Amino acid sequence: MIPMPPRWMLFTGVLAALALAVPPFVIARVRATPDPNRAVHIFFDMDFQPKFKPQTVNPLFADGRSQRPAVLGTVARGEDNLDTHLNDGVVNGAWAETLPAGLEMTREFLERGQQRYNIHCSVCHGYAGYGDGTVNKRAMELMSSSEGPANGTSWVQAKSLHDPVVREHRLGMLYNVATNGIRNMAGYGTQIDLNDRWAIAAYVKALQLSQNASMQDVPPELRDNLKKEVK
Ligand code: HEC
Repeated sequence: MIPMPPRWMLFTGVLAALALAVPPFVIARVRATPDPNRAVHIFFDMDFQPKFKPQTVNPLFADGRSQRPAVLGTVARGEDNLDTHLNDGVVNGAWAETLPAGLEMTREFLERGQQRYNIHCSVCHGYAGYGDGTVNKRAMELMSSSEGPANGTSWVQAKSLHDPVVREHRLGMLYNVATNGIRNMAGYGTQIDLNDRWAIAAYVKALQLSQNASMQDVPPELRDNLKKEVK
């Protein structure tokens, strides 16, 4: 039988083993917590990569901006944007009346337009397009408070899409308004996909038709149902 070592030796051994377990934890923790003020860097990590953060100064350029604008005269691959029908809603200098090549006026396309319109446009223009969306209502409320416009609110009524002037707009112009905005309305070109902006324009046309339709616009086989519903 192996004789038991003395107690003090066992005790020191266990203590040493415990002490040895501490450094890996400390190192792991230090590695996982970034700290720009750490004095001693055992491992250099990506805290110290040379880079420019957004909105900081880069003295290398005359204008001092670290965020560089696109170089004049360069065009990114696949972004020539030369198709004026697709990109601006313009054909031969006039507002396009049709969808650009590649897009088709299907029920699915209009439903996509409806869904996107309800998300992006209805807040101001209202679901039915009368310019009575939630944001518009709230702004009007603030504007008409008895002590004058609250917090300096200023607001231009979101236009009714059934206004005679707006009803005259061609499909291409509606697309262009959704893309670049008009007067007090901001554009949504960066927030909404190009195809979806066309779908929205198509849906606005459908919405306008729906609010100004006559019985002749309804397919004959559906007219009877409609008469019952409308009464
Ligand atoms: C933040 C509120 C707001 C949102 C969201 C908004 N609009 Fe507007 N829109 C306005 C206002 C305000 C006007 C009137 C601007 C003016 O008269 O100066 C307007 C005007 C218009 C007009 C009328 C243009 C004309 O000839 O008078 C159209 C069409 C239109 N918007 C379409 C859209 C579509 C499509 C969307 C969704 C992509 C949209 N708007 C989203 C506020 C909004």
